[in-house]
Amino acid sequence: MKTISRLFFIAGLASLSACTPSQKNMEAQEAASEGKNQVIETIMSRRSIRKYKQQPVEQEKLRQILECGINAPNGQNKQSWEIRVVNQEYISELDSLNRSLAIAKGADESKIRHTSYGAPVMIFIANDTTYDFSQVDCGLLGANMILTAKSLGLGSCCLGGIARTMKLPEAESLLKRLDLPENYNLLYAISFGYPDESPAAKPRKAEKIKFVE
Ligand SMILES: Cc1cc2nc3c(=O)[nH]c(=O)nc-3n(C[C@H](O)[C@H](O)[C@H](O)COP(=O)(O)O)c2cc1C
Repeated sequence: MKTISRLFFIAGLASLSACTPSQKNMEAQEAASEGKNQVIETIMSRRSIRKYKQQPVEQEKLRQILECGINAPNGQNKQSWEIRVVNQEYISELDSLNRSLAIAKGADESKIRHTSYGAPVMIFIANDTTYDFSQVDCGLLGANMILTAKSLGLGSCCLGGIARTMKLPEAESLLKRLDLPENYNLLYAISFGYPDESPAAKPRKAEKIKFVE
């Protein structure tokens, strides 16, 4: 009898341990079907942030953002991007330039906003002009960084306009300081920081999706 009860005990333990992961799986599936999938939640709740708190971004979070960025899928694993994290001094200089250019164009001074919207972190991304999929690589890199930031409680904003400004003759020295290789083109920047606003989602055009039979 003793042997039989021990066998039942072992069998019970085995079935319990076999059951636990599948139960966990089921819970994860249920959570996903209830819209609690963390990745989906992060994607759907992300918005471009244009107002930031005066709170620095922790180095560890910045490191995670960059690490997740370079783990993006990319053509032939060429990693055809260049990434430049600029410091506060650089952002201030860019702000001053942007401001003077806007004033020269007749902009209302009180309406000129900071280039990074006041975010403490600004990352520039450049693409390899000799590789036809490099802009895709750079876009996926940025998406990874933006979504990682969101998952860590940080806001972000893609900044395309600033790449145009940086190519003006007035910005030559700022562009040079990024020290990009010859065949690289400054594509865009992303600002990161703690959000000080919660903008609503902008409508998306679902009709752009078509299933081809
Ligand atoms: C390639 C690209 C360039 C962008 N450039 C700018 C920009 O220069 N300034 C800005 O405020 N937002 C910029 N954005 C942010 C878009 O305006 C924003 O993603 C879009 O309006 C959708 O809003 P959402 O990000 O809140 O969903 C850019 C986004 C992308 C992807």
